[in-house]
Amino acid sequence: KNIVILISGRGSNMQAIVDAQIAGANICAVIANRPDAAGLAWAAERGMATAVLDHKLYAGRAAFDTALAALIDGYAPDLIVLAGFMRILTADFVNHYAGRLINIHPSLLPAYTGLNTHARALADGVKVAGCTVHFVTAELDHGPIILQAALAVLDDDSVESLSSRMLVQEHLIYPQAVRWFVEDKLSIAAGKVRVASHSA
Ligand code: GRF
Repeated sequence: KNIVILISGRGSNMQAIVDAQIAGANICAVIANRPDAAGLAWAAERGMATAVLDHKLYAGRAAFDTALAALIDGYAPDLIVLAGFMRILTADFVNHYAGRLINIHPSLLPAYTGLNTHARALADGVKVAGCTVHFVTAELDHGPIILQAALAVLDDDSVESLSSRMLVQEHLIYPQAVRWFVEDKLSIAAGKVRVASHSA
């Protein structure tokens, strides 16, 4: 399966997916919307194809998304992986990739959509926090859930401590979700994901 990964920054989830060396996963390119995204250098050092599409050079969201889709489609990917890609995508873009666009979000969706998830969870005093891999639909941070991991929140947790513990979990569940996709184990029925290995 051909895979394109989109990043905006550090790209540690991208690294986890690459390092997982998933059989049958051909990562064609890493694309960033920011020229300074640190993950680009990591990918380039490993001989991977990289590209930058700077959203600041586009007149608006629709123009950027049209250019981004053209760039992505040049790689004819089966799967597009959002890995810390910090752009809201238009419905046209999302619908174009229906069933082949996935994201990781640092909360137990549907709780805490949007930004600053860990700060809001800590402010609410929740005792369990988590992360979610999901198919992307037009509604932000919604879409069928593929896999989640949960962690106990500690009394003395800060945003930094919780997010660094959560990142370890993200790096486990994101490669697993990609592996299932590559193995054709995922299907969506009535808005819910089924994993073949779990139901067969
Ligand atoms: C991750 O916490 C991800 O869940 C969130 O942004 C962060 C990206 O980290 N959406 P990285 O760029 O993958 O290191």
